[in-house]
Amino acid sequence: MLGGKSAPDFMSQVVKLLHQRMLKYNWVGFYMLETTQSGEPPMLVLGAFEGAMTPHTRIALHQGICGAAASSGKTVIVDDVSKDPRYLACSLETKSEIVVPVFVKGKVVGELDIDSHFHAAFKDEDRELVEYCAELVGSRLEEFPA
Ligand code: SME
Repeated sequence: MLGGKSAPDFMSQVVKLLHQRMLKYNWVGFYMLETTQSGEPPMLVLGAFEGAMTPHTRIALHQGICGAAASSGKTVIVDDVSKDPRYLACSLETKSEIVVPVFVKGKVVGELDIDSHFHAAFKDEDRELVEYCAELVGSRLEEFPA
């Protein structure tokens, strides 16, 4: 089912499946780390996603929950986004969020971001599932670089 050869195809399938099958996962997308040679700061750039278009197509590493997850290399779960000053609003309906870094050879190359319309939607089993998906994507990127 997840047999698409290229990493971008694989990532599109991952976001589709998570969005379709997990009823509380109302926005599911990847942000990939873009680094330039010209000394500009790295940015997280929106990749494959499912759900409403977001105003945040490029996020700096010091911004948002997305920036926090990418710069720390750690999963971030926010049960109530209205209480987190880092939160960059994507939709007024979003109540909770999980962001899981994607690693290739030990380095953060991007992240899987999921928003929910429900408070505290992301439990231990969700963390396990989303971290597993992020690991699969990291392996696929290592095998078939974009
Ligand atoms: N809420 C994120 C921004 C991305 S949107 O959720 C799609 C953040 O705070 O970094």
